[in-house]
Amino acid sequence: MAAEETKRPEAAGIEHVAAIFGVTGLVGKVLAKELISKSKWKVYGIARNPMIISNQQCSNFHFIQCDLLNPLETQQRLSLLQDVTHVFWVTWASQNQLDSIECCEQNKAMMSNVLNAIVPMAKALKHVSLQTGMKHYVSLQGPFDEAEARYYNENGPRVNAGCNFYYVLEDLLKERLDGKIAWSVHRPGLLIGSSSRTLYNFMGSLCVYGTICKHLNLPFVFGGTKKCWEETCIDGSDARLVAEQHIWAATNDDINVQSTDGQSFNAINGPSFTWKEIWTALAEKFGLEVVPENAFSEDFWYSKAMADKKEVWKEIVVKERLMKTEMEDLANWAFLDVLFRCPFKLLGTRNKVDQLGFTVRYKTLDSILYWIECMRDEKLIP
Ligand SMILES: NC(=O)c1ccc[n+]([C@@H]2O[C@H](COP(=O)([O-])OP(=O)(O)OC[C@H]3O[C@@H](n4cnc5c(N)ncnc54)[C@H](OP(=O)(O)O)[C@@H]3O)[C@@H](O)[C@H]2O)c1
Repeated sequence: MAAEETKRPEAAGIEHVAAIFGVTGLVGKVLAKELISKSKWKVYGIARNPMIISNQQCSNFHFIQCDLLNPLETQQRLSLLQDVTHVFWVTWASQNQLDSIECCEQNKAMMSNVLNAIVPMAKALKHVSLQTGMKHYVSLQGPFDEAEARYYNENGPRVNAGCNFYYVLEDLLKERLDGKIAWSVHRPGLLIGSSSRTLYNFMGSLCVYGTICKHLNLPFVFGGTKKCWEETCIDGSDARLVAEQHIWAATNDDINVQSTDGQSFNAINGPSFTWKEIWTALAEKFGLEVVPENAFSEDFWYSKAMADKKEVWKEIVVKERLMKTEMEDLANWAFLDVLFRCPFKLLGTRNKVDQLGFTVRYKTLDSILYWIECMRDEKLIP
C-alpha cells in the first residue's frame, strides 16, 4: 500500500476507509465483501490467521495479520493506518470462560490496544461500530425468567449479576472516544453466517451434523428441551443483515449527529421462528428425511453423539474434496447443546431500527438455507 495513498485517500477517489477487526469471522467476512464492492471504500481487514480472498483483484482491500492481544505488534502494525475513517469491531477474545472477570479484562485489553494505536493517528476517524449481542439483556448466572417471552428493546437496563464483557467494551468506547467521535453498538441474536474462525458457530455445527447424518445414514435429531423445540426462544441474525446494519449506522449522518454517546441497536432478522417448524426443511436441504414424531429428543446430546466422529469428518473432507478443516474448526457441540437447552428466552424488538428506516429483514429459515449454499460454494461442506 502506497504511503501517499494512506495520507491522502481522497486523491484515489476514496471517501471512506474501513478497518474491520475480525475480518475472517461471521460478520467480518460479509462486511469486507460488501465494502470492497464499493469503489469509494478502502478496506483494511485484521485477524490473526491469513484470509483467503477469492477475488485477487481487490485493489481496495488490504489484509493485516495481527494479534490484537499483543500490544507491541498492534501498535507497530496499526499505527500506520492513518487514513481510517470507520472502525468495525466484529471480533472478541474467546480464550476465557464467557463473562468471567478474565474474559472482561482480556477483551478490554484487546480493544485498548487498538484504540491506543488508531485513535491518535487517524485524525479523520468518524465512527466506531461495536458488535456485542442480545446477551446484553440477561445474565448467564441467572436468575432466569421462565415466564412468558419478554421482548427486549435497546433501553433494557444492564443486568448486574456477573461480568459482561459487552458493558466493559461500551464503557471503554465512551471513555476513549470522549464525546468527539461517534459510535454505535449492534446486538445480534443467533448469528447465521459462514466462517471457520468462529467459536460459537451455529451454521458450522448444524452443517457438520447434517453432513455426518447423511454420510452415516443417521437420523437428524433436534436434541434439546421441549420448550426450545416448540416455542419461540431466540432471534436469528443473518450475517448479511448485521453487516448492512453496521454500515447503515456508521454512514447515516442523521443518527451520527447524536451518537457521540453511543447509539444501541438490536440487529435481528425480524419474523420469529421455532425449530420445530423449520427442522424438516433443514433436513431436506441436507438430503435427509425426518419422521416428525422422531425428530425431537430430550435425551440426545450432540457432544456425546458426535464425540467419536472426528475421523468421519476427515474422511468426508477427503472424499468430497473440501477445504481442509478439522471437525472442531466448524462445529461446537457443547454450544449446540446449550443453545437447544437454553433456560431463558432471548428475544428482541426491532422497532428502533424500523422507525429509523433500516429495512433489511430475513426469515430465519431462508437465512439458514442461504448460508448452507454459501458454505457449499466455499467448499466447507459437500
Ligand atoms: N457467534 C454468534 O452467534 C454471536 C451471536 C451474538 C453476538 N455475538 C457477538 O459478536 C461479537 C463477535 O463475535 P463473532 O462470533 O461474530 O466473531 P467470530 O465469528 O468468532 O470472529 C472472530 C474474528 O476475530 C478474529 N480474532 C479473534 N481473536 C483475535 C485476536 N487476538 N487478534 C486479531 N483477530 C482476532 C478471528 O480471526 P482469527 O482467529 O484468525 O484471529 C475472527 O476473524 C462478540 O461480541 C460476540 O459475543 C456472536
